[in-house]
Amino acid sequence: MQKLEVFGAKKLKGQVKISGSKNASLPILAATLLSNKKVYLKNLPKVKDIETMINLLQSLGSKIKFNKKNLIINNFKQNKNYASYKLVKTMRAGILVLGPLLAKFGNAKVSLPGGCAIGSRPVDIHLKALSKLGVSYKIIQGYVHASAPKGLIGSKIRFSKISVGATENLIIAASLAKGITVLSNCAIEPEIKDLTNFLNKIGCNIKWIAKRKIKIFGVSEVNEANYTVMFDRIEAGTYLIAAALTVGNLKIQNVIPKIIQNEINTLKKIGTKISVKKNEIHIIGNKKIKNLNIKTAPYPGFPTDLQAQIMVLLCKANKNSIIKEDIFENRFMHVAELNRMGAKISINSNKALVEGNTSFEAAELMATDLRASVSLILAALTAKGKSVINRIYHLDRGYENIEKKLKKIGAKIRRVN
Ligand code: UD1
Repeated sequence: MQKLEVFGAKKLKGQVKISGSKNASLPILAATLLSNKKVYLKNLPKVKDIETMINLLQSLGSKIKFNKKNLIINNFKQNKNYASYKLVKTMRAGILVLGPLLAKFGNAKVSLPGGCAIGSRPVDIHLKALSKLGVSYKIIQGYVHASAPKGLIGSKIRFSKISVGATENLIIAASLAKGITVLSNCAIEPEIKDLTNFLNKIGCNIKWIAKRKIKIFGVSEVNEANYTVMFDRIEAGTYLIAAALTVGNLKIQNVIPKIIQNEINTLKKIGTKISVKKNEIHIIGNKKIKNLNIKTAPYPGFPTDLQAQIMVLLCKANKNSIIKEDIFENRFMHVAELNRMGAKISINSNKALVEGNTSFEAAELMATDLRASVSLILAALTAKGKSVINRIYHLDRGYENIEKKLKKIGAKIRRVN
């Protein structure tokens, strides 16, 4: 199994180009199932989760090929409506094919994704909302068997809780429903705006009518289109934190700074110097890091996907900080490993008390999930000596070329078998 070796205590300097967003690409790829025509997508990141989604689409009958920078999806003969456990179990976003398959065929059989390291992660909100569009379903042997005998019919739906995935599944499904759907209490992550921009580009009719409210006028078919996926704001945030941690000097490129204004403000409060241009963020780290209390929240709040990374930075603050995880119930898997490196973090239910003034020590480490893996790399980048990070397949699910990008800005890091 592959490992990463990191030789730390090097300042990161230079420029890093941010890849396309994994979390925007996944629902957009699922949404291509609505089409019977060609869709051209640009800026998809080369990461494992995207490969898995492409495999899932191919298993459903999509014809997919790469041509230069485009992924070309041809759904002319896409005719299957069964998503197997084998593909959905490795990536929860597999459930996003349920909405488009129901919209297209009126019935579908999709494996339940199951839990993962960061919590039980049910899909009850997706299913309850789909039933309001006329879908009835049964769970049989780990699969959702769903059908809409009269087709999907537009409705007014208020989500009981803000869910990124459920909002996406419903937007995609309602795009081909009969009549008008109004969704409220929607997640408003930038990736969801990217999805609605994509859907409107292929001929759907979706309007944001209030902060968390969307009106969808069902259409009967969609067109051929080209679309460029947005940048990965979590990858950008990770490199910003890496620069702050190593007291580095980095230009983060191919981004839209205002989309990550909250993260920029947080890093400024902690003491880093940040300036922005249209598509670039320039960060200069500061040896003195101020403590801060942070709680994760749906966008525009602080993202749970950056919680592990900011925790590493707060270990270096002048005083104690508290991090409250309000999205997932079990997202502190990185804490035990960070403590093995010398951090002093204690957990009380969904709060982590992070003591400051930590000097991380190099160690052999085990990655537990995608963002936890990267937090271990960040800690290792500040520790003198060699750290070894095992189970990096988690990392490969969501970070494109991470060793290459880190090496280019001065890190000493290598992948070994
Ligand atoms: C997406 C992101 C993930 C991010 C998360 C929160 C993708 C591919 N993944 O995950 O990186 O960490 O948003 O920003 O975009 N919940 C239920 N029932 C449901 C659905 C969700 O109880 O039917 C709960 C979840 O367990 C969690 C919370 O709602 O506690 C938010 O989850 P959700 O926003 O749905 O996350 P995902 O879409 O799975």
